[in-house]
Amino acid sequence: MSTPMKIFAFDYSGPAHLSSGIWRHPADRSAEYKNIDYWVDYAKLLEGACFDGIFFADNIGYHDVYKGSVDEALRDAAQIPANDPAYLIPAMAAATKGLGFGVTSSTAYDHPYAIARKFSTLDHITKGRIGWNVVTSYSDIAAKNHSVSKQRSHDDRYAHAEEFVDVCLKLWEGSWEDDAVIRDTDACTYIDPSKVHTIDHVGENFSVPGIHLCEPSLQRSPVIFQAGGSRKGVELAAATAEAVFMNSTSKASMKKWVDTLRAATIAAGREENSVAVLQMVTVISAATDEEAQAKYEDYLSYVSYDGAMARYSGWTGLDMQQLDPDVPLEDVKTNAGQTQLNIFTKMDAEKKWTPRDIAEYIGIGGAGPVIVGGPQTVADELESWVAEGGADGFNLSHAVKYQDIKDFTEFVVPELQKRGLMRTEPNVGTLRESLFGEGNSRLPKNHPGARYRAARVPA
Ligand SMILES: Cc1cc2nc3c(=O)[nH]c(=O)nc-3n(C[C@H](O)[C@H](O)[C@H](O)COP(=O)(O)O)c2cc1C
Repeated sequence: MSTPMKIFAFDYSGPAHLSSGIWRHPADRSAEYKNIDYWVDYAKLLEGACFDGIFFADNIGYHDVYKGSVDEALRDAAQIPANDPAYLIPAMAAATKGLGFGVTSSTAYDHPYAIARKFSTLDHITKGRIGWNVVTSYSDIAAKNHSVSKQRSHDDRYAHAEEFVDVCLKLWEGSWEDDAVIRDTDACTYIDPSKVHTIDHVGENFSVPGIHLCEPSLQRSPVIFQAGGSRKGVELAAATAEAVFMNSTSKASMKKWVDTLRAATIAAGREENSVAVLQMVTVISAATDEEAQAKYEDYLSYVSYDGAMARYSGWTGLDMQQLDPDVPLEDVKTNAGQTQLNIFTKMDAEKKWTPRDIAEYIGIGGAGPVIVGGPQTVADELESWVAEGGADGFNLSHAVKYQDIKDFTEFVVPELQKRGLMRTEPNVGTLRESLFGEGNSRLPKNHPGARYRAARVPA
């Protein structure tokens, strides 16, 4: 599964995703995030460079934990403003043939019936190129702004998400048979009613007695991605995900985490390698190591400490202003995201991280590592994340919007292709085929969602 590497660009439908203060750089194109031409041009760049896809993060809350206010997040545009990424997809899909699209959508406050319809629609209009990054949300302000006084507890969010995904899978896989749409003009019958089934779902959180609103799309279910790395997050990934993305700080900590995921996947009754692992990295590249290093140092001069801490406090629910910037962060438990705490307090045996270290580290590209160098250096490093960390591919974040990914296409892609590590022709099929090979557009038989199909449709 790890050759060729799977390569996605990681982005946000807003000016500043994971890097802080960099929007001030003269080459940065953040302000163009509202312009559909910008995204269409970007999609063409990625497809031309044989990327598997573009992956949009999203957040339905905002970062108001740092200094007890949203002000620092607003000053740095730290994931706010944030447009809905789903609306970018049709235009980007129309301009490309095989580029995949990962869209983050939270299970916290939407209803699975509406979300199932949204992803079926996207899968139809992209001809099977859509993936859903299932997130559970983590902020109290997101709850309040969706008329819920307090968010669910961490583990309960995952239990709720599990049922949410289950309802969607029942709708996608179990409601309509493949040959339900017959368009029989003589019989004046567009759809054969005997081939459309109610899902009869009654659960702890949702009741959905009826049928899906959409006919089956090419993939039926979107490719299911997952990102939470806590114990409960891994359980959800092992049970339902086809790909996960990680932001480990070292190859050793990644390997540990991948081993845990593989064991959990087997325990969930699936094949060991049925979940692809994408590590988030930021690559600053140029023609030579020296030029790349100079570029990186230039970027560092733009990093905003407060912007980085606004993000980190929001992700973790911990107000970093309350902590001594030079005392290593202790293992604490909050009701927000645990992964972002664990990667600096538990999973990295090689280093004790202080708040100042964390701010510097996440100021460029968020919590994933930054790789700086010319073509050979970057390719060597990516190769070793696969060999030593167990990655199947990468979700490429950026510091300077557009430019860093463009540099990657120019300097690194040819080197990876020369080594046989990256595809040399753009994908022409569905997203699931891009990840798992031609002919694999539908959920695999050992995925729990496939049992709903088997119950309704003869194999
Ligand atoms: C690498 C990574 C990327 C994530 N991306 C998003 C995102 O785009 N939107 C979001 O609401 N949550 C995102 N999350 C949050 C998780 O999906 C999850 O809701 C949160 O981390 C709490 O779960 P955990 O304790 O298992 O980490 C991300 C988490 C990680 C680790």
